[in-house]
Amino acid sequence: MNAPAELAKVIASTPDAVLGYKSFQLGSFGFRRDEYFAHIAWTTRDGRSLSHSMDIANFLRALMRDVAWGFFYGGVNFDDVIGTVNHYQSVDLQAGAFNATLKDAGVDILENFPTAQIKATFEEMLADWTNAGFDPFSAPQETGTPYGRKNGANTPAITRERELATRCVGLPGDLPMRTDERGAPVNRAFADVPQDAPELHPEPGFENEVHAFNLFAFLSRSQVTWNPSFTSVVKYSYMCPTTEEHILPILHSNDRVEWFFQMSDEISWDCSHRDTGAPLARVIMKAGDMAAMPAYCRHQGYSPKRSMLLVWENGSPSLVYEIQKGDAPEVPVQF
Ligand code: PHB
Ligand code: FE
Repeated sequence: MNAPAELAKVIASTPDAVLGYKSFQLGSFGFRRDEYFAHIAWTTRDGRSLSHSMDIANFLRALMRDVAWGFFYGGVNFDDVIGTVNHYQSVDLQAGAFNATLKDAGVDILENFPTAQIKATFEEMLADWTNAGFDPFSAPQETGTPYGRKNGANTPAITRERELATRCVGLPGDLPMRTDERGAPVNRAFADVPQDAPELHPEPGFENEVHAFNLFAFLSRSQVTWNPSFTSVVKYSYMCPTTEEHILPILHSNDRVEWFFQMSDEISWDCSHRDTGAPLARVIMKAGDMAAMPAYCRHQGYSPKRSMLLVWENGSPSLVYEIQKGDAPEVPVQF
């Protein structure tokens, strides 16, 4: 989205003299970091000031996903209190709006921003608050500390670009998928994943149209966690495999049904109601299991060992409005 430049102007303070970090203002929200925490402050609907604090590691991991995914589908909750909701032209920033206790107490807030404005603010906050050596996309065991006073930056880690294939992976003209050929090492958790390639026997004349690659080998070399990649796109059917270790840094409130196929190891999911946070289900997924998340749930996954997950999304741009009108279901199947 192209917005006027002034919309994207970020209101940032000069760095704190002792800690070295900038503070940020976005609408009624103030953001401040210290050695251990991000602090978010706002004025409640009835005029009182309120604040919320998050461990800075968790905050930066969530912020990284929200920025990298362009605010994703539906809601990205950083925790039970704060988060964003994507309206695809604009984005809500909210505190307590989907937390029954805070909402009932009248201390929640929700403000809508042009996507360019919240994106610019979040990007600058992420850049200023991420210290050298900390990679918000890495598993906790594979990165340095985010804590302490300002210590450099980690620009390469927070500005990774999605690599776009121009045609079916592996065919002449495709670009990026063969991570192995670019030298990315197999992750320590996937040392046992076979690295062989499938045999191909296309009919003569079809050599330029038929290909296959070893998805497990590809994923075994992933450098990041909890970051679905669009590996196949057929109309609006998006197959997004990803490697997961530790905790999904957000609670995702989708605005459509979303499918999970656990391709290796195990992830447990906490599912709660999108609007209130009331617990709904705990789903234990082992290799080979499939699950569908209804559009009215939020979900957060826990992966004790690095695992491979296929996220299957329906990317239709009209689906969210069809669900709102009751023309498309919120659940994958009616029993
Ligand atoms: C999800 O919210 O459904 C999600 C996000 C990132 C992942 C996996 C699942 O890596
Ligand atoms: Fe999700």
